[in-house]
Amino acid sequence: MTIGILKEITGENRVAMLPESVATLVKMNVTMLVEAGAGLAAFASDAEYELAGAVIETKAKVIAGADVLIKIQPPTAEEVALMKDGQVIMAVLNPYFNTDLVKELAAKNITGFSMDVVPRTSRAQAMDILSSMATVAGYKAVLTAANTLPKFFPMFMTAAGTIKPANMLILGAGVAGLQAIATSRKLGAVVYVFDVRAAVKEEVVGLGGKFVEVEGALDDKAAGGYAVEQTDEFKARQAQAIHDQVVKSDVVICTAQIPGRRAPLLLKKETVEAMKPGSVIIDLAASTGGNCELTKDNETIVHNGVKIIGNSQFPTDMPTDASRMYGKNMINFLKLIITKEGALNLNWEDDIVKGTAVTHGKEIVHERVKAAISA
Ligand code: NAI
Repeated sequence: MTIGILKEITGENRVAMLPESVATLVKMNVTMLVEAGAGLAAFASDAEYELAGAVIETKAKVIAGADVLIKIQPPTAEEVALMKDGQVIMAVLNPYFNTDLVKELAAKNITGFSMDVVPRTSRAQAMDILSSMATVAGYKAVLTAANTLPKFFPMFMTAAGTIKPANMLILGAGVAGLQAIATSRKLGAVVYVFDVRAAVKEEVVGLGGKFVEVEGALDDKAAGGYAVEQTDEFKARQAQAIHDQVVKSDVVICTAQIPGRRAPLLLKKETVEAMKPGSVIIDLAASTGGNCELTKDNETIVHNGVKIIGNSQFPTDMPTDASRMYGKNMINFLKLIITKEGALNLNWEDDIVKGTAVTHGKEIVHERVKAAISA
């Protein structure tokens, strides 16, 4: 079979596969087409893709020639218009929000795999692009905070006296939050952490963070390792505990999310106003509304001297390793649907294949996406 890698839109520096991943697929007997210039913003040239065994083509020829198309960002209207009946696309479709796109893919009989809905099971871990990108974001968030804060992160004993370490609060200890804890501990900050899932406490403590507990959180095993919406009573208690901790913090990194929902609002305007001027908030949940009431997506604002950075683009700012991780995740997924001879075999008995498909056979086949769209 033939796989085509499409060039991303301007502003997206990543590419779905670096030449090293293309070489792996060529060894798996797959023919690889790559759109001209696809890797340039991630510092991978057309010549390197050719050396890896790919053929460089125009967008139209890649789409016409491929059985499976691979991207990061959802396909553009131009790309969808060029797609063929029965073709497969794998990308971060963001299906809960891009509902028109999902309907269009179904109507055109395109099988859409949305890499952002890969089930969060142990077996699927090696295919979980959200985890890979959250790792990048957690790391970059801490470095951005360290660069912005007018203070040191570590404690210093100097001839000019002792410098106290920065106090950091991390909201949400999922993948991004755990990476943020690890990175800020390496830089010497004192790190406090909130999460509604008590199960993460051990990991937080293992990384050197202090877990702040609020009694009474709902933890739903059926949610597949993700958080669920909390009761109003819990939210009020948590808001007070967060307020008390935030006013003592120099940096707050927000990473709390509930898949398919608006990000939980955890930092009120009044709380930000009680922070010390010069403090920094990095809101990784900006694209789904933010954990902080004042966050503006992809903007930095200053409120009463507190800088609130709503950057949703951290992975695109680190395109080489972000593309490397995305490509490796894709290969691990593709291994489920490529035979030894390099043929496409969509195995619907496999829970990961089934759980990642959003459209197939002219239908929306993902139950949660279907429910969200009909709601
Ligand atoms: P995750 O689902 O692994 O972790 C989210 C954590 O938030 C979970 O541990 C969950 O229990 C916790 N949480 C949910 N509700 C909470 C509440 N009310 N209070 C406290 N904790 C709560 O998500 P992941 O992969 O770590 O991503 C975190 C955020 O980072 C997401 O919003 C994601 O979209 C965003 N992200 C941002 C990027 C950027 O460039 N800004 C890049 C990648 C991800």
